[in-house]
Amino acid sequence: MKITVNKTTTPKEKPHMDNLPFGKIFSDHMFVMDYTEGQGWHDARIVPYAPISLAPAAMVFHYAQEIFEGLKAYKGSDGSVRLFRPYKNFERMNLSADRLAIPKVDVDFCVEALKQLVELDRDWIPEQEGASLYIRPFIIATDEFLGVSPSKTYKFFIICSPSGLYYPEGLDPVKIYVEDTYVRTVRGATGFTKTGGNYASSIKAQVIAHERGYSQVLWLDGVEQKYIEEVGSMNIFFKINGEVVTPMLNGSILGGITRMSTIELLKKWGVPVSERRISIQEVYDAYCDGKLEEVFGTGTAAIISPVGELRWEDHVMNINDNKIGEITQRIFDTITGIQTGKLKDEDGWVVTVD
Ligand code: COI
Repeated sequence: MKITVNKTTTPKEKPHMDNLPFGKIFSDHMFVMDYTEGQGWHDARIVPYAPISLAPAAMVFHYAQEIFEGLKAYKGSDGSVRLFRPYKNFERMNLSADRLAIPKVDVDFCVEALKQLVELDRDWIPEQEGASLYIRPFIIATDEFLGVSPSKTYKFFIICSPSGLYYPEGLDPVKIYVEDTYVRTVRGATGFTKTGGNYASSIKAQVIAHERGYSQVLWLDGVEQKYIEEVGSMNIFFKINGEVVTPMLNGSILGGITRMSTIELLKKWGVPVSERRISIQEVYDAYCDGKLEEVFGTGTAAIISPVGELRWEDHVMNINDNKIGEITQRIFDTITGIQTGKLKDEDGWVVTVD
């Protein structure tokens, strides 16, 4: 499919790239294409970033038939623009699409479209340490219809936001509240997808956790509230007695691309790592025995985020004296090194835009 390009005639003023917020500023252009039943995806185009017009009855507003992705572009000191494992994002988008009854996209085409968009807006990519161009592809259902059924029309967008760190704490450890009232999802629902509803249902618990002085919540399973699932915007890892453990993908956890990369790196380094069911009681017991060595989250927006405190009911676990652990630091240095081109991309994870 051909991509038409309509460049802006009124480029916006670039922000100061120091101290960028996360996800509040948007670049000059966006990618759009439409889907119509019987015709497939069509009218691929890059156009100026601008508000869109939708009917108030558009299905996305009522039944949340919507999916999204998140990935980043980095500009290295060599001037090259790098995307981190973008094919994995569009492959995952198709997993989400399948679950939400949304038509799939062509992965290779989406990566090509993304490369064109990022190349056009390359001056919006920050070069500052910790900053990047956060990229948000998403698909929404656009039929004007109030019945509950799959839409027959959709719009796909890619928008770009020069962004700083997701957590203002940066690499300082974050405090996490283990949620014991609400649940995020259950097996068989949409937990493994990136759909807005998963995040909408998490907001109330997050507000309460913030009021109690915590950055995020750690979700337990939706049936027994015993087994660890994930944090609001990250997957979670525990280093217990030398072994790194993360909850296995069980249908209700997001298959994070940073999670996958972390597991692959640990295996390569010969660090014992397992994906299995792990209960909050096991984590607490390990803490009491002095064996809970490190806890960290992984995510595209958050990258690698050390956890300094976990609160579960009345138990407060202080992890590694509130300092970043050795493995956490090594994973952070390696992943960000590959993303920015400071380290060799031994596994072919990076796709350059130029
Ligand atoms: C990401 O890490 O890219 C996400 O989509 C999480 C979001 C809550 C910022």
